[in-house]
Amino acid sequence: MKIIIVENYNAMSEKAAQLVEQQISENSEMVLGLATGSTPLGLYENMIEGYKKRGVSYKHVQTINLDEYRGLSKDHPNSYYAFMCEKLFNQLDIPLENVHLPDGIARPVEAECRRYEALLDRIGPPHLQILGMGTNGHIGFNEPGTPEHSLTHCVKLDESTRANNARFFKSADEVPTHAITLGIASILKSKEILVLASGKKKAEAVKRLLDREISEAFPASFLWKHQNVTLIVDRDAY
Ligand code: GLP
Repeated sequence: MKIIIVENYNAMSEKAAQLVEQQISENSEMVLGLATGSTPLGLYENMIEGYKKRGVSYKHVQTINLDEYRGLSKDHPNSYYAFMCEKLFNQLDIPLENVHLPDGIARPVEAECRRYEALLDRIGPPHLQILGMGTNGHIGFNEPGTPEHSLTHCVKLDESTRANNARFFKSADEVPTHAITLGIASILKSKEILVLASGKKKAEAVKRLLDREISEAFPASFLWKHQNVTLIVDRDAY
């Protein structure tokens, strides 16, 4: 794992955007794995600026997101689809047919999981996967206890994860109890992985990651099994 320590959130976001834009300049048809949460928002702002000011085009880029809440349709304001459209896709030149997220309301859910994993294999795996990290070490929505060999699956969210994500909802009760997520093995299929961590809230998780103890109890630790991972971490989180 390559570790890049930067001054603050803005520096982390700029550095991450440089790495994304470098890959697009080498391959305009790249497949980009994307994440939700607050952590990548600065990266997304920098990507939008790159498109608007420096003409970085996403016309031929394909994106594959990590996860989606179970029970929320694409047009639900709290769906990750809506989040990604608002924070990124609507402000780039990427055609919406090039963006991919699990369908939160498809039934049966097992079939949707199989469809999404097959899509990952057909379109991807991503040349570059962006990852944030939960305070409990979750990646995507792979909560502690998720096995290393897991593929796309439906998960019951930890109460700590629901509490952390409640800020995006009108009330804590509205946070879905389940989600569809790429599994650990699905994420590790990516050619390259870029993990972002910022702020004091993530310091404990970063410390555990850097302990290098690989265990289901801390899902991000499986990243040590991948050959091409970069962690960009700011001083507060390091
Ligand atoms: C969410 C997402 C993850 C994200 C994590 C951290 O639940 N499913 O992909 O990395 O939690 O969120 P944040 O960046 O807001 O701290």
